Order: sequence, then structure tokens, then C-alpha cells
Amino acid sequence: MKFFIDSADIAAIREIKAMGMCDGVTTNPSLMAKEGRTDTDAVLKEICTIVQGPVSGEVTALEAAGMISEGKRIARIDDHMVVKVPTTYEGLKAMAALAAEGISVNATLVFSVNQALLVAKTGADYVSPFVGRLDDVGEDGMALIGDIVEVYDNYDYETEIIVASVRHPMHVVDSALLGAHIATIPPSVIPKLVAHPLTDKGLAAFMADWKKLQGKQNG
Ligand code: G3P
Repeated sequence: MKFFIDSADIAAIREIKAMGMCDGVTTNPSLMAKEGRTDTDAVLKEICTIVQGPVSGEVTALEAAGMISEGKRIARIDDHMVVKVPTTYEGLKAMAALAAEGISVNATLVFSVNQALLVAKTGADYVSPFVGRLDDVGEDGMALIGDIVEVYDNYDYETEIIVASVRHPMHVVDSALLGAHIATIPPSVIPKLVAHPLTDKGLAAFMADWKKLQGKQNG
């Protein structure tokens, strides 16, 4: 299973990459705005240099023609760039055109099986269903992932599923159990994946016993 980091925070990406937990990065206009840097192409280039894996940068045009020219510009930033395109009617046109030119596409803002099916037919490399936002409105985000896994398996689609809008460790567990190819995880969730009270308790006991032993040696 691949872990992408859902962030444009250079320091966080660098730290998580060094731990071996960052196979790629996904950004969006909101994540870019959070970092406050207006030189967004330079940010994406810096991220590509650190990650050396797929890095998604999102188009902001709403019409297909604009998305296509913006997507081509984003793809030129670095060989690792993936063009993130919203899954609208216009977006599908742009996805198909960009994919036909060999540009890697990540279809974003996916909330239904039909959207994911259409995305696969465009030849996009990645589909990003947003599980947290579905949970927010009382729908079952992870059930959507299970359905997309099944449909893609039925037809051997090669589009990889990126579980997005991940909010907590159970989203990562469920993604792995369902066989999703990738989870894109906010930096704040990574420490939560390793934390366990029994690990802390066990370590504290080991350290206390070790200290006692040292005391005996010295005494
Ligand atoms: O990967 C998509 C993600 O950035 C959206 O997350 O938490 O804003 O729904 P969230």
C-alpha cells in the first residue's frame, strides 16, 4: 500500500519522507492557500524534488479548454507531476484529453461509484474519492471505496484508487483492508498511526526496570 501525504507543507513532507512514509503527495487549492505561498509552481517543484514520486497539483479553471492548458503547464513543472482535475462534466473532457497526451491525471472530488467509473474510462491514472466529506454528511465513505474496488476489479481498470479526505487512523486501516492502492494522509494523522497506549506503558516499564538495574550496578 502506498502512502501519499495530503499537504503542501514542505517541512512536514520532508520529515515524513525521511521516515519512508511518503510515496507521493497530493495538494489542492485549499492546502496551497494554507501555506500562504503564491509561487505555487515553485512549491510543487520543491515537493517533487523531495518526494521523487507522484505529486498532484490541481487545475483551477472550470472549463475543459482552460483545464487542459493549465494541466499541460502543471505537467511541465516536473516529470513527477500529476494533474489533479475535478470530476465534473468539463473535467472529464479535460481528463481524457490530458491522458491521451500521456499526462498523468488524478480525478478529484469523487463522491459516487458512477463518477469513479467515468474517471476510469477517461484513462486517468488515479481516482480520489473523499471519504471524510461523505462521513460528514452521514454517508459511508469507506463503503464507497469498497464499491469502487469491486467495480474496478470487475473490469480490470488500471486507475489507482487514492483514498482522500482521510481524517483518522481507521480510514487508513479500512483502506488497507479493502485493498485501496493508496491513502493520502494529512501529516497530523501519521503520528496517530503509530501511537498506542500499551506501547507507551510497556516502554515506561522497560525504562523503569532498566533504571533499577543501573542503580544496582552503581550501588
Ligand atoms: O485529499 C483531499 C483532502 O485534502 C480533503 O480533505 O479533510 O478537507 O475533506 P478534507
